[in-house]
Amino acid sequence: MWTRRANHQIPHYKGWPMFGNLFQVNRERPELTFTEWAKHLGPVFSVKMLKQQFVVISSFEAIYETLVEKGNSFMSRSTQRIYRVDLLTENTEGISFMEPTPTWMKLKKTLHRKIRIYDTGMKRIEEINRGLIGNLVNEFMMRKVSFNPKEIIFNTVMNTILALLLGKTFRADEELFKNMMKFEQGVKLALSSSGKGTELDIFPWLRFFGNQTYKLILELKEIRNRVWELMKKEAALGDQMLDGSEKDFRLMTALKEVLTEKDSGLSEGLLKTVVVLDLVFAGTTTTANTLYIYLNIISQHPDVQGKLQEEVDAVVGSSRCVSLADKEDMPYTQATMFELLRFTTVAVFAPPHTSHTDATLQGHVVPAGVLVLVNLFALHHDEEFWKNPYEFQPERFLDEHHQLLPASHPNRRHLLPFGAGPRLCIGEALAKSRLFLVISSLAQKFNIHPGDVTTSCDPRVLLTGPILSSRYFEIIAKERS
Ligand code: HEM
Repeated sequence: MWTRRANHQIPHYKGWPMFGNLFQVNRERPELTFTEWAKHLGPVFSVKMLKQQFVVISSFEAIYETLVEKGNSFMSRSTQRIYRVDLLTENTEGISFMEPTPTWMKLKKTLHRKIRIYDTGMKRIEEINRGLIGNLVNEFMMRKVSFNPKEIIFNTVMNTILALLLGKTFRADEELFKNMMKFEQGVKLALSSSGKGTELDIFPWLRFFGNQTYKLILELKEIRNRVWELMKKEAALGDQMLDGSEKDFRLMTALKEVLTEKDSGLSEGLLKTVVVLDLVFAGTTTTANTLYIYLNIISQHPDVQGKLQEEVDAVVGSSRCVSLADKEDMPYTQATMFELLRFTTVAVFAPPHTSHTDATLQGHVVPAGVLVLVNLFALHHDEEFWKNPYEFQPERFLDEHHQLLPASHPNRRHLLPFGAGPRLCIGEALAKSRLFLVISSLAQKFNIHPGDVTTSCDPRVLLTGPILSSRYFEIIAKERS
């Protein structure tokens, strides 16, 4: 067995010569190994895999110190370039992997401001919401037998992001939509943070020896270029259709305006990465996988489903559509959404953070340039803080009067699925409004039961990738009378 050795700086387990801790980590789900290690090594420990050394942080205090209290020091992404990302984005990186330059700041501010209108009940946006949720409900109604809901959920979420970008939705058989779906599926494989593909970051020369990930990334680059050309065409068509009476809310318009600003630092190449990777890919894969996993959970938790139905029946009734304005009157639905985000934690590690100067975390010196991995999965499943963390219990976010706990309550503060501080996710408001609308609308219309193929909803058996996803399962959606 390997021994624990604490040097005067950061605790770590002794690894093998050359390989470091490589063979001690579950490569399918590294965060599970790191969650266990934190119990012995503490909330800040270091790991070495081949040449790469990084620091993993796990407790709320350590994560809060990194992302918020010392957020300005740890807001850099990486001093070392990630070969697979560079290859896919043609060295443009995009918001998620960029250094915090004035251009990054400008892009984040613009997108944050624009995305927030999605939560305000603006007329045109509410129309789009109603249309998309209506389609989702119709698709479920058409399935009279056991079915896998993945494609329907992914279509709905991707269309939400495309509607926000381009002001219109797409059918599943349209060129742009088909290509974007292919891109989403491919990127999940090509950029997986564990398992296959990682070897290309360490040994880029493997590309000369028929490496499969390398071939896939070349294909994805082609698809990305095709999607971008189609998007530009759609945006131009949209410009022509604008009648001037309603505000142009399209994100594409806001981004094009930044592109034309003097000294914006934004090139068309960077814009392409922002739109295709930071918005459509990141926005779809996170929210859609969360909802897909939700359908498995809810089919196996009739008690939770019953309480959701009681609430939506009392607040909305059965005839009108749920709207974002109902949110404040639906604490159980909001608590279910928070519990879903905690339980699943699909973005288990935020992209790595790093500091350009030596800094301390919980009293340990973290040298400049060392990658810091934030283990959000450990935070959300910490047995010392959460009672029975592997049980799905929305009640954790309610007080004794069944009202939502205030944002200052420790349970709400320990919930950081979107990160925190300067690198906070730009899509938080959009994702939460989607989750709320889908959870409540499905509860209003259906009783969801397990189908012919079932899988465990324990988050420890989810599949790895840049974002966690569920194994195949089916559900039966029976219309409520
Ligand atoms: C359930 C849904 C979502 C989850 C759980 C999630 C989670 C996260 C997390 C953990 C981070 C990293 C924060 C950090 O580095 O500390 C992040 C960053 C980011 N997210 Fe999300 N996200 C979601 C939805 C979205 C959506 C809908 C979009 C776009 C429309 C989006 C775009 C981004 C971008 C561009 C960043 C990079 C921000 C930066 O580096 O400054 N995400 N997200």
